[in-house]
Amino acid sequence: MLWVLIALQWLHILAGIFWFGSALTVHIIAFPAFRKFPPETRRAIIEAFAARYGRLVGAVAGLTILLGILRGLVGGVQNVLTSPYGLTWLAAIILAVAIAAFEGARLSPAVGKLIAAGESEQILALDERLALYGKIELSGFLVLFSLMIAMRFGY
Ligand code: HEM
Repeated sequence: MLWVLIALQWLHILAGIFWFGSALTVHIIAFPAFRKFPPETRRAIIEAFAARYGRLVGAVAGLTILLGILRGLVGGVQNVLTSPYGLTWLAAIILAVAIAAFEGARLSPAVGKLIAAGESEQILALDERLALYGKIELSGFLVLFSLMIAMRFGY
C-alpha cells in the first residue's frame, strides 16, 4: 500500500505542478509578452499557442483532481472526513473543480472569441478580459496550493 501511495503522490504532484505552473507561466510570462505585439499579430500568436496548450490543460487538470482524490482515499481520508484534514481535502476538490470549470466556462471561451475576432478593438478588449481572468484563476490556485501545504501538516 505504501508504494501505491508513493506512486499516487508522485503522479499527483507532477500533474499539479504542471497545471498550476503552466497557469503561472501563461498569465505572468506568456500573455504579457504577447502584449508587446500589435493586435493582429497577437491574435495569431495566441491562436498557435492555444492550439497546443488548450488541448493539454483540460487533461492535466482532470488528472490532478483525480489523482488528488485517489491519493486522499488511499491515505484513508474517508475515515476522517469531518476532521480538519478531511475538510481540507473536500475543500480542495470543490476549489479545483471550480477552477477547472472557470477555465472551461470563462477563460477558454474568451480565448476562442479573441482568436475569432476581426477588429483590433475587439482583440484588445478580450485580451484585457483575459488579464482579469488570469488574476482570478491564479488567486484560486494560490488558495488551492495552500490547502496542499495544510494537509501536509495534518490540517
Ligand atoms: C493545482 C493543483 C494542485 C497542486 C499544485 C497540488 C500539489 C500538491 C503537493 C505539492 C503535494 C505534496 C504536499 C507535501 O507532501 O508536502 C500535494 C499533496 C496532496 N494533494 Fe494536491 N495539489 C493540487 C490539487 C489537489 C486536489 C484538487 C486534490 C483533491 C483532493 C489534492 C489532494 C492532495 C492530497 C490528499 C495530498 C496529500 C496530503 C498529505 O496527506 O500529505 N491536491 N498536492
